Amino acid sequence: MTLFNLGSINADHVYQVPHFPSPGETLAATEFAVGLGGKGTNQSVAAARAGAKTYHIGAVGPEGVWARDKLEELGVDVTHVSQIETPTGHAIINVDKQGENSIVLFPGANFAMEQADIARALDQGGEGDTLLLQNETAHQAFAAKYARNRGMQVIYSAAPFSIEAVREVLPFVTMLAMNQIECEQLCAALETDIERLDVSETLVTYGAEGAEWRGDGTVRRVDSFKVSVVDTTAAGDTFAGYFAAMRDLGEEVQTALKLASAAAAVKVTRAGAAEVIPSREEVDAFLSRRA
Ligand SMILES: Nc1ncnc2c1ncn2[C@@H]1O[C@H](COP(=O)(O)OP(=O)(O)O)[C@@H](O)[C@H]1O
Ligand SMILES: [Mg+2]
Repeated sequence: MTLFNLGSINADHVYQVPHFPSPGETLAATEFAVGLGGKGTNQSVAAARAGAKTYHIGAVGPEGVWARDKLEELGVDVTHVSQIETPTGHAIINVDKQGENSIVLFPGANFAMEQADIARALDQGGEGDTLLLQNETAHQAFAAKYARNRGMQVIYSAAPFSIEAVREVLPFVTMLAMNQIECEQLCAALETDIERLDVSETLVTYGAEGAEWRGDGTVRRVDSFKVSVVDTTAAGDTFAGYFAAMRDLGEEVQTALKLASAAAAVKVTRAGAAEVIPSREEVDAFLSRRA
């Protein structure tokens, strides 16, 4: 059926620096690149590249038209990406010689979206469709409730982790997706464990150690593929977007896990975020080489 993703759109400004600037210091960067990023964008691109019909619900500022065009080029339907007066969300990412990063994030247009625009987009969805959400936009709880009322599945990536956001959104969630750290933070904050969480499905990723899905009283596991890691940015988003797309396309959980793990493995061999998430054909080619 159809995926809708209420998600962030960010311009990632990446600077290579000899060291992180100290207070009062002016520092020359040695390299600079701009890329398309944001957890929401990454998940939309992953779902679209996996082959699912994917509408991104979001906003860009006056200077962000290139980001919307890029999303569209990568296969995402941008009908519900509005252009508003607030500047596009962006991140200033300094990377030092050790590969450590230091990030300033400006949420911008991602937090200035109107509820009415979200409702208008979700009015196109119904039973059999799915809403994806993360914690980088406004109105997550509103959107989750709205989608549930329309009979849609709601997949929520509780990242970046915020217990207030989780508490608000969780009652409307059908699948909760997290990495290991987010899962530990959530279980500690709610004083529970993953088996006792009040949500029908959970998906926890463990980096190079694989991933685990729980639902219908069962647990399904997948291993990570062994690859030479270049950049783990967007690994979790690639996994979540692929998994959601595969379920939407009617695949069994175990098949969806395997394809998501392969897609994320290919992603981590490439530098960058949304623009280098592999297509379904690339993932199939990777799997046939590994068979
Ligand atoms: N070093 C790695 N080698 C192979 N696959 C990886 C590696 N790191 C991450 N992945 C894949 O990406 C998924 C998500 O990674 P993880 O680190 O758990 O999420 P996040 O990106 O949110 O921190 C993993 O379940 C795995 O499939
Ligand atoms: Mg990780």
